[in-house]
Amino acid sequence: MYYPEELVEEIRSRNNIVDVIGSYVRLQKKGSNYMACCPFHNENTPSFSVNPSKQMYYCFGCGAGGNVFTFLMQYESYSFIEALRALAERAGVALPELEYSEEAKRTADLKSRLLAVNRDAAKYYFYQLKSERGKAALEYLKNRALTDDTIRAFGLGYSTKYADDLYKYLKNIGYEDELLRQSGLVTMEEAKGVYDKFWNRVMFPIMDANSRVIAFGGRVMGEGTPKYLNSPETPVFEKSRNLYGLNIAKGQRKGFFLLCEGYMDVISLHQAGFTNAVASLGTSFTAQHARMMARYVKEVLLTYDSDGAGVKAALRAIPILKEAGISARIVSMKPYKDPDEFIKACGPEEYQKRLDHAQNSFFFEVEVLQQDYNLGDPEQKTRFFNEMAKLLLQFPEELERNNYTEALAQKYMISFDSLRKLVNRLGVQLEPSRVAAQTVEREREEGRRRSRPEEGMKKSQRLLLTRLIEEPQAFERVKGIITPEDFTEEFYREVAALAFEEYGKTGNVNPARIINRFESREQQTEAAELFSTQLPAPMDEAQRRREFADTVVRVKQNSLQIQYEKAVEQNDFTALQGIMEKQKGLGKLHSSLNPG
Ligand code: GTP
Ligand code: MN
Repeated sequence: MYYPEELVEEIRSRNNIVDVIGSYVRLQKKGSNYMACCPFHNENTPSFSVNPSKQMYYCFGCGAGGNVFTFLMQYESYSFIEALRALAERAGVALPELEYSEEAKRTADLKSRLLAVNRDAAKYYFYQLKSERGKAALEYLKNRALTDDTIRAFGLGYSTKYADDLYKYLKNIGYEDELLRQSGLVTMEEAKGVYDKFWNRVMFPIMDANSRVIAFGGRVMGEGTPKYLNSPETPVFEKSRNLYGLNIAKGQRKGFFLLCEGYMDVISLHQAGFTNAVASLGTSFTAQHARMMARYVKEVLLTYDSDGAGVKAALRAIPILKEAGISARIVSMKPYKDPDEFIKACGPEEYQKRLDHAQNSFFFEVEVLQQDYNLGDPEQKTRFFNEMAKLLLQFPEELERNNYTEALAQKYMISFDSLRKLVNRLGVQLEPSRVAAQTVEREREEGRRRSRPEEGMKKSQRLLLTRLIEEPQAFERVKGIITPEDFTEEFYREVAALAFEEYGKTGNVNPARIINRFESREQQTEAAELFSTQLPAPMDEAQRRREFADTVVRVKQNSLQIQYEKAVEQNDFTALQGIMEKQKGLGKLHSSLNPG
């Protein structure tokens, strides 16, 4: 951690989580908590809760949770340091100059300097577009029906015809050659000298999720190759991790994204009001792209080019999206080439209709398959049904498979029974009982998960941690009985150690403060989960005491069991004896916690 713990804690405590989250999400008071529909997954009934006394949020639907830093990291895709800076500013706390290590300084420095170069370059290109020299470029963009507002919103620009215009400008305002070389905006070769990368092109700044310019694309005006030229990868630009338009789309909360192929598609769609459009820009769509999208939406409408390449790209993207937990539907742009041309020809209303009729991705796959067969020919038709049946085998659930089988049977006018028989026969033939095996395996897995003793153990440990946080007097009751070492899960033990330490020092435990001690969002969320275990339904005092005693004894018993196994392994008979004594005492322990 770069900043001292006390400072991080001060910034946290000066930003009430209810106010901060309340500025993004509409919160409603329910008892001592605030509730809302979760901003991190789609839902209609609120399961997202913000707890003012714990200064924590937690979603019982998707498990998102943490303190006020976690929230900004998750909602704004900030790093921990960025969240800290934003909240420091909000609370008017001055941050001291950072004490970086030399190495950290160099990389952080390089990245922020590259971002500064890109920002200045974008300003320069924008300025050129509006100048006399940029007339033709502005004309070009206007001809493509872009408004001034759109041009400004996307920061479009123009790179002039001069070979080293940008270089001279950037050099002039103080950037060094080496940094400019690393930005990819200029090339330096001994023989040829220094050249700008982009000449006489309309410029599209590529921004990251936080609207920082990380690269550029440049398009020739009219015909010419290459049509688009893009910045090379640099320390701030990784193609497979970037989605054009995400900086705007992520804040739209429409519940789905439109995924398209090009700069112009995104821009046209945004201009037409479809502000949730993003593009992976020429590079093929990757699992990383999908995971980035999954932070914001559960559904993606693919609005790719209508040509063969677009169809192929869509077929490739569907399973990648599925893998990330996103369901895909396909929007047809026919008879137009792409969304940009479609909107220009038919307008936003017609485009909206296409969205309303977006096709289920499975039906799309079948339809593409069908194009390879002539259904007028009985032999080809048979082959097509066979291939279709194979596709149906991707659904391991019988009910779902039957539903799709039925829909396809209707569509291609074959009886449900014969199609289902075909599917079942193929299922057996292709890979003996693959489908059945998958189902059995999954049921088994679920059964294991339910009954796995570790799961039960972890649950008891979480329950105990939540109890300790909610009623600090519980620390007194477990004094001399439970120590952090009794939490056998490593991460739980770490959290417990922090909680016990804080209780020892202050007589109180603040979960949000403990979450501070972890820097990654994943760990913060996991810690939040430990403090948010749903306690069993309301109970009277006696039930409560019994339940608490049960939990403590279960945690202790497990801890002793593990110590026991270790002692056996090490042939440590002295330790063994002590452990067995304690095991015998568990009954008494229970009645001491739950007298009467
Ligand atoms: P317009 O012709 O301006 O409407 O472009 P488009 O967005 O319709 O382009 P297209 O569908 O041809 O390509 C989709 C995306 O692929 C573009 O937005 C670029 O990001 C990328 N791309 C297209 N052509 C090239 C090229 O020649 N070189 C590189 N590196 N990328 C390209
Ligand atoms: Mn186009």
